Amino acid sequence: MVRASGAKGTCVKGSFTPSAEAAGLSKAPHLARTVPVTARFSMGGSNPTISDKTKAVTRGFSMRLEDTEGDLVFVFISAPVFGAKSPEQLLNGIQLRLPGPDGKADTDKIKAFAEANPETTRQSAWLNARPVPASFAGVDYWGVHAYTLTNAAGEVRVAKLKFIAAAGQLGLTEEELKSKETSFYADELMGRLAKAPASFDLVAILGEPGDPVNDVTAMWPEESRKQVKLGTLAIVSMAPDATCDANTFDPVVNLPDGITGPANDPMFEIRSPAYAISLSRRAN
Ligand code: HEM
Repeated sequence: MVRASGAKGTCVKGSFTPSAEAAGLSKAPHLARTVPVTARFSMGGSNPTISDKTKAVTRGFSMRLEDTEGDLVFVFISAPVFGAKSPEQLLNGIQLRLPGPDGKADTDKIKAFAEANPETTRQSAWLNARPVPASFAGVDYWGVHAYTLTNAAGEVRVAKLKFIAAAGQLGLTEEELKSKETSFYADELMGRLAKAPASFDLVAILGEPGDPVNDVTAMWPEESRKQVKLGTLAIVSMAPDATCDANTFDPVVNLPDGITGPANDPMFEIRSPAYAISLSRRAN
């Protein structure tokens, strides 16, 4: 069995080095000194042979910032929003797309669902408005949920987290896309890392009163929000699949002191059991 989502991916290694400002926002030990990182880039969805050229699918970036007191797990995607704000909406959207007795999904029902639930279309609209990324290291990734950061003085800020690619947004033109193989990301990354690390800046986008904190389909106006650099992630080498496959990247459990997930986001808590079930099925 493969992962229920992010089924196709590439495991990598690197390190995270916090910025001088990070401690001002969070007392997490992972934001206080350089820590080793095991990470995995992936294609969204449960298809392990999905083409890397697929546009309307998020690229995923999951990672474990390793510390003797426990790992900090982040699971990010290449869009600022998720495609459903509640478990019911997610399930309804998935079930609608299942093929009927004629082997096809009911397109009228899919259209009606999108009209009745417009927030579920924001993620695909975001992806369709942008080119297919030329590299896993050439696109930004968002943590999507609103996290609460607490520093050593007990000061609290709500923030969304984002990894900004040092390489910039590397998109493929339609012409370039045609000449690409179905699977080109792993080789591209290997070639890139042979020359230099692939870096990302982790920034905290600070929320202001009224910014939604429990709806992963709602976008914050991040250009007008204060952004604080928390550190730099440097991906330095490829790693065997087994290094990433032995465990799951569960972003809910074991968050360190200094970082908590959203209290009332119905999509946050359900992730933990879903990731555990997927891990148990693919381990058997
Ligand atoms: C809300 C924002 C979400 C984001 C950003 C997200 C992102 C991701 C990513 C990037 C992966 C690949 C992990 C890897 O490389 O190993 C993944 C895996 C997975 N996701 Fe999500 N996801 C979200 C919500 C959910 C929800 C609501 C569910 C189900 C209720 C879910 C179920 C899963 C499962 C079952 C896996 C496979 C885990 C494994 O086998 O290790 N995700 N997700």
